Amino acid sequence: MADAARLDAETNNLDALWMPFTANRQFKRKPRLLVGAKDMHYTATDGRRILDGTAGLWCVNAGHCREPITKAIQEQAARMDFAPGFQMGHPVAFEFAAKLSAMLPGDLDHVFFANSGSEAVDTALKIALAYHQANGQPTRTRLIGRARGYHGVGFGGISVGGISPNRKQFAAGLLGHVDHLPHTHDLQRNAYSRGQPEFGAQLADELEKLVQLHDASTIAAVIVEPVAGSTGVLVPPKGYLERLRAICDKHGILLIFDEVITGFGRLGASFAAEYFGVLPDLMTVAKGITNATVPMGAVFVRKGIYEAFMKGPDGIELFHGYTYSGHPLAAAAGLATIKLYQDEDLFARAAALAPYWQDAIHSLRGLPNVIDLRNIGLVGGIELEPRAGKPAARAYEVFVDCFERGLLIRVTGDIVALSPPLIVEKTHVDQMVDTLGGALKRAA
Ligand SMILES: Cc1ncc(COP(=O)(O)O)c(C=O)c1O
Repeated sequence: MADAARLDAETNNLDALWMPFTANRQFKRKPRLLVGAKDMHYTATDGRRILDGTAGLWCVNAGHCREPITKAIQEQAARMDFAPGFQMGHPVAFEFAAKLSAMLPGDLDHVFFANSGSEAVDTALKIALAYHQANGQPTRTRLIGRARGYHGVGFGGISVGGISPNRKQFAAGLLGHVDHLPHTHDLQRNAYSRGQPEFGAQLADELEKLVQLHDASTIAAVIVEPVAGSTGVLVPPKGYLERLRAICDKHGILLIFDEVITGFGRLGASFAAEYFGVLPDLMTVAKGITNATVPMGAVFVRKGIYEAFMKGPDGIELFHGYTYSGHPLAAAAGLATIKLYQDEDLFARAAALAPYWQDAIHSLRGLPNVIDLRNIGLVGGIELEPRAGKPAARAYEVFVDCFERGLLIRVTGDIVALSPPLIVEKTHVDQMVDTLGGALKRAA
């Protein structure tokens, strides 16, 4: 009864909520509301089951409402709801950091907690700047992002980000001392790639040009998503990330991987760093860190970076932190989440399913207006020809059609992005491709 009453209130009064990244008026005319979730499915207000083709927003990697995680959150909420994290601590955050550290590649072994991907990114950029100060190179203040990069919505994140609408409204507040690499998306040469595209490693050399332009002594860090998610599944060309790493090493520039989407199994490995065999100096994560149950983000840093801060006299080493850094509920959720990933071997499961997933995505070839299909791990991108004069309209229509037929997909511009929970079964994959294929035909 309580749920039904709440449902009524929700459906009848949508006005007060200013929805994020949403066409508010369009949505409120014909809302799509979800009221329940279990494993691979959501439940809509009308009771329909909706297959989750996007793991929520690339975040519910172990599937929805998994009992070990919900139980851990409930128990922690009853035991200790909150503890201050400044000059105080609580064991669960320390335990979670230690467990994360053990699963990280290379000497990435220290963890700073935030509450979202955006906060993790701004934290990482700040650590990069502060590191060079601590390391006697205070002129290194420039940050390099990449076109079509998404690094959340903080002022740091949108400054290094490469999505023009996200920047334009706030142009007056963007950070100075920022430059961008070109993106790697090249449909002419790489359309219909399976996994990493063949062409484009040399685009990393654009970093050499920025070094020539600005001088290495002014550059603090480069931040990239190993696989760009939010701008439509841009898979790095073979050799690209390796080259970026080598150029950063040559010039003493820190390399930051934003693994908010790729972290925690999305590619069939713990992290993209591991999948590609390229170790960044800092890594940002969020989303899958708690299976999206309690908001949390984190920055992972390499040993030498942490140690550079620990050399001076005793005192606060980094003037940064959040009230909820390492929140007990998030830390408890995170501990249960990574245990569940390990108990069910979900990352290996994703890797094992990836070839089937790849074939399923590429089976959409030839459908109306499909101009590219790409995939990596359990991620798929379906790029559509935009309608003349109406960018994004076709993909939006496909999105609504799929939802009405029981499938949640994500669209960005005219690109459909799929990223199911890692517990997805082959029958679910078939259903996704069938439903999406039908919607593509209807939107022709
Ligand atoms: C690569 C990347 N970085 C940062 C973010 C921002 O995360 P949040 O929305 O939790 O702030 C996202 C969100 O999708 C992301 O994909």
